[in-house]
Amino acid sequence: MAKPSILFVCLGNICRSPMAEAVMRSLAPDLIIDSAGTAGYHEGSLPHHGTRKILDLHGISYEGQRARKVRMDDFERFTRIFAMDRENQSVLFNMGCNKAELFLANHPGGMLDVPDPYYTGNFEEVYHLIRETCEEILKKL
Ligand code: 4NP
Repeated sequence: MAKPSILFVCLGNICRSPMAEAVMRSLAPDLIIDSAGTAGYHEGSLPHHGTRKILDLHGISYEGQRARKVRMDDFERFTRIFAMDRENQSVLFNMGCNKAELFLANHPGGMLDVPDPYYTGNFEEVYHLIRETCEEILKKL
């Protein structure tokens, strides 16, 4: 089977999915990993300063990461596509991406949506959820 390649998708591609991209790359440096947003509001931007701060605290690199919008060719390029919440999974389904999985389906806590720290301000909570979930995904790849 082809080597897994992973795309994480949130709304703005500045908080949750770039955090997941950086954490997953730190855990599995040989995999192809990227992230994107269903909205293009922040195209070209660095990750949010809250995401950068928590990644810096944990010594995780986000070098070269810039926000971009999800593209139709992503659905062929990536073997696994993880939506950070149900709303973004629905948007992906509506775009014709039938392989969009719910990221937190891989977490034992029973939550469905990664809370959006753009609104909650709680980047620490999201970091731990993301790290635990990435570890679970890697066990099953
Ligand atoms: P993200 O968070 O989807 O985790 O990157 C957001 C970032 C930006 C906005 C909303 C959520 N925004 O409305 O600009």
